[in-house]
Amino acid sequence: MKLDHVELSALTPEILRVFGQQNPLLTAGDRNGLNTMTIGWCQLGRLWSVPVCTVFVRPERYTYQFMESRDYFTVSVLPPELKKITAFCGSRSGRDVDKVKECGLTVRCGAGDAPFFDEAEWVLVCRKLYAQDMDPAAVLDGEIILPYYGEKGGWHRMYVGQVVEAYART
Ligand SMILES: Cc1cc2nc3c(=O)[nH]c(=O)nc-3n(C[C@H](O)[C@H](O)[C@H](O)COP(=O)(O)O)c2cc1C
Repeated sequence: MKLDHVELSALTPEILRVFGQQNPLLTAGDRNGLNTMTIGWCQLGRLWSVPVCTVFVRPERYTYQFMESRDYFTVSVLPPELKKITAFCGSRSGRDVDKVKECGLTVRCGAGDAPFFDEAEWVLVCRKLYAQDMDPAAVLDGEIILPYYGEKGGWHRMYVGQVVEAYART
């Protein structure tokens, strides 16, 4: 058998489809207080011999404070029919509105009391292993700066979390 060139989407259809079309909700906090926001940047893989999920949060997000002060975060992938919720949570800040209440989301808690949403198709519960600010000095392709930084906002902080629990509809 020879090794053929294939489209990346043929090799990893599910992850590329989900992260390209069903922007997840990133949530941090606990049952007494939480915030959630839509994310487009999310990576799954292995690091330090464990399964990891990596997310990227700008410091100006309200969610950032929760990401900093808590040891866990969750990634909830909602079904496509709940696109209105992902749009809402990606355009409104928890500083101004209770997104969970407005969207009618049902909070459940997993490991570390980390909150996620019962409406999700699947959920990852992650324990923070590593956090680092993305560094403009480390950029190798200057083309990414203009569309994503400057007036667009601050440099993201990267959080690598060990996936400690997963939930899915069965
Ligand atoms: C499709 C989509 C993807 C987004 N991805 C990210 C992301 O990966 N990182 C980030 O910091 N903000 C991202 N945002 C922006 C936040 O979701 C948005 O600013 C949100 O209102 C922040 O809410 P908060 O202030 O309650 O944390 C995205 C928004 C949308 C609509």
